Amino acid sequence: MHRLMFAAFALIFVSSPLRGQQDDVDRGEREFRACAPCHSLEPDRNMTGPSLANLWGRKAGSLPSFERYSDALKDSGIIWDDRSLDAWLSDPQHMVPDNEMTFAGIKDGDVRSDLLAFLKVATKPGAAPAPAAQRRMNGMGGMMGGMMGGARDPNLKTLGAGQRVTSITHCRDSYRVTMADGRTRHFWERNLRFVTDSSSDGPESGAPAIMPAGMLGDRAAVIFAAPAEISKAIEKRC
Ligand code: HEC
Repeated sequence: MHRLMFAAFALIFVSSPLRGQQDDVDRGEREFRACAPCHSLEPDRNMTGPSLANLWGRKAGSLPSFERYSDALKDSGIIWDDRSLDAWLSDPQHMVPDNEMTFAGIKDGDVRSDLLAFLKVATKPGAAPAPAAQRRMNGMGGMMGGMMGGARDPNLKTLGAGQRVTSITHCRDSYRVTMADGRTRHFWERNLRFVTDSSSDGPESGAPAIMPAGMLGDRAAVIFAAPAEISKAIEKRC
């Protein structure tokens, strides 16, 4: 009887910290949704911010494939570990004044520690390709990608006819955009953005793509392979 009770206690003691850790990781994965619009966990897939793959032990501002680090972060001398990441996520501007991560920070220490538990697993070399947080966002495809600044847009070379732009005209304060499926949409000129994506996920040269942007359905971005294509593609016609 005693032995049984002892076994039961031992089980509880042994298993609960492990279960606790897994819970932290699961909660942290949900918290990562605050980061996913700007950061991927795939090596060298940079978005607004640098990829966070292989983060632990990395010198701040040192990922060679990321071109947009601030001098403030590059010169900070920080090495990313449990402690420095906790301080960074609690108040980035306090830790590194003038850095360019537009993120207010996470004041709740429990939330930070869950997020770090998740990141520590998900940023390890060879960790699962895309964790569920990012997969979920990918699943929502261009819609969410467009709205949130691009968790991960689909590869723009493989879009359907409805998102392949064949002509753009400008008249007074309006653009008319015609797609390969024959449909034409009108935009107020302030609601259409012209952007480029030169990555391997970007459109074919000369074949710009259109993606919804914003929450109201009245905005979109036309994505070109290179800046030189933009004004060439827009014809002045009323
Ligand atoms: C709005 C976009 C945005 C959001 C949201 C965001 N970041 Fe960032 N992050 C950036 C940018 C941009 C940088 C580079 C800052 C610089 O160079 O000053 C950065 C830098 C970092 C770095 C330093 C990486 C390195 O290579 O030195 C870490 C770590 C980081 N972010 C983690 C996070 C985490 C975790 C979250 C979510 C809680 C988050 N960020 C949310 C844009 C963002």
